[in-house]
Amino acid sequence: MEEDYAGDVTVEEWRKLWKDGKTDFVNSEVCPMFSKHVDKMLNSREKVKRLFLFYGKVVEMKWLWDKGHEVVGVECGEEAIKDFFTENKIDYSIVEVPEVKGKLYKSDDGRIRLYCCDFYLFNSAVESDFEAVWDSGALNAVNLDDQEKYVNIIKSLIGNKCINLTVADELSVTCEKLRNWFNGGFKNYT
Ligand SMILES: C[S@@+](CC[C@H](N)C(=O)[O-])C[C@H]1O[C@@H](n2cnc3c(N)ncnc32)[C@H](O)[C@@H]1O
Repeated sequence: MEEDYAGDVTVEEWRKLWKDGKTDFVNSEVCPMFSKHVDKMLNSREKVKRLFLFYGKVVEMKWLWDKGHEVVGVECGEEAIKDFFTENKIDYSIVEVPEVKGKLYKSDDGRIRLYCCDFYLFNSAVESDFEAVWDSGALNAVNLDDQEKYVNIIKSLIGNKCINLTVADELSVTCEKLRNWFNGGFKNYT
């Protein structure tokens, strides 16, 4: 990600970056941490319902969908969502979701559901009981004052067997913070 994008970036500013095509932060390859740890996240489970946070248009979503899992994402940049479906040649439909003041982009088989909205409006009345979470750079993109609010929303969405893999650098997120937020369930992998 370019240095300019770090720090306090509002949802409107993220949306403008997407609109203007200033998306150098997008990763077009599967993240090495994903490849290394995906088996731990799946834990021999099939049809896992997985939450992708602030996902841009990450290719890991297609990877999991191809393997029969369920992919739910929350992203404020509409271009990211449209690009994801178009680039992967997946047919979809769009419906308004007033609860999150946004839209749902749903694949025709229903297994990919991408919400275009501000994550802080997302809640368990819309989707819940996630069995896995993939957070790659999302927590790092959260403004410092909002980190705890962000973590509390995730905690309200997950089921008790959920495995959450968070990839973060230590600029704004420390292991100690993660340990406190996720209590006993925290493990550090490199
Ligand atoms: C640093 S990028 C990470 C992209 C992706 N995780 C990856 O690895 O390529 C942060 C993404 O979060 C989205 N975003 C930032 N704040 C958001 C919010 N409050 N609600 C929903 N999406 C948000 C941005 O549009 C951007 O695509």
